[in-house]
Amino acid sequence: MAAAKKIIIDTDPGQDDAVAILLALASPELDVIGITAVAGNVPLALTQLNARKICELAGRPETKVFSGAFRPMVRPLVTAEEVHGKTGLDGPDLPEPQMPLQAAHAVDFLVETLLAEEAGTVTLCPLGPLTNIALALVREPRLAHRIERIVLMGGGYFEQGNVTPSAEFNIYVDPHAADVVLKSGVPIVMMPLDVTHKALTTSARVKAIRDLGTRVGVAVAEMLQFFERFDEAKYGTDGGPLHDPCVIAYLLKPELFSGRECNVAVELASELTMGTTVVDWWGVTKRPKNALYIRDIDHDGFFALLTERLALL
Ligand code: BDR
Ligand code: CA
Repeated sequence: MAAAKKIIIDTDPGQDDAVAILLALASPELDVIGITAVAGNVPLALTQLNARKICELAGRPETKVFSGAFRPMVRPLVTAEEVHGKTGLDGPDLPEPQMPLQAAHAVDFLVETLLAEEAGTVTLCPLGPLTNIALALVREPRLAHRIERIVLMGGGYFEQGNVTPSAEFNIYVDPHAADVVLKSGVPIVMMPLDVTHKALTTSARVKAIRDLGTRVGVAVAEMLQFFERFDEAKYGTDGGPLHDPCVIAYLLKPELFSGRECNVAVELASELTMGTTVVDWWGVTKRPKNALYIRDIDHDGFFALLTERLALL
């Protein structure tokens, strides 16, 4: 088997972030060399704590978790307790983590690791606002040539927005950071709402996870049942979109996804449409293609992969 791919997960757990972390830790093809927490769904003090709770749930307390930016680059922090609950990880009752938080700042870890590792060998997986990633790129411009690629959850075009009528949460919370990342020249794969809204946690899929009968299976089912209630009421669907695990699934089985190389730009000027991702899907501008914008998913294949991997924990 080929050597495991080195990844850094940048995250704001968040139940769907938690499932993404579990999927990565369960997968032998991936080597999670660090998890960097950022403020997003809930404040930083909770996202770093939740990241450690998840590593312990996975039985991987040796995983290195770092704390990063406590607010976006320019705008004030906007959180999403109405979706994720007061803790950010409402649903299961998980114990306080015993594993330590690393002493280094997440941005220092990103810079030092990406300079130390062989160029082109580390993939970044941002699952929250892009603050930590943008700060690292601004601080050390050589990183742009060293990151293998960035596979991120964020944006929306055909589906428009989920936090404002036109903006998706991760990009809306720190649009300036998203702008830095999208203009960085690093190869980018984007998992927007256009694809994640096709990955629904239907009752049959959640039952299959609960029926694994393991501690992880039951905890994930409890997380998903809490998480989906908000979107089920909003969209009238059976289940809610399981956004962040799409990033990890793409690394494991890219054939489950399809999309198009496009230019993606972020609105920074208008308060009305702040953080909107403007996707040149039809190639009507001469702006350079800067992202593989994913639009479709084999959702049954995705949930089969997720359930099979969660069973390994
Ligand atoms: C994104 O926002 C967060 O609430 C989720 O964790 C996901 O990363 C979806 O818009
Ligand atoms: Ca997230």
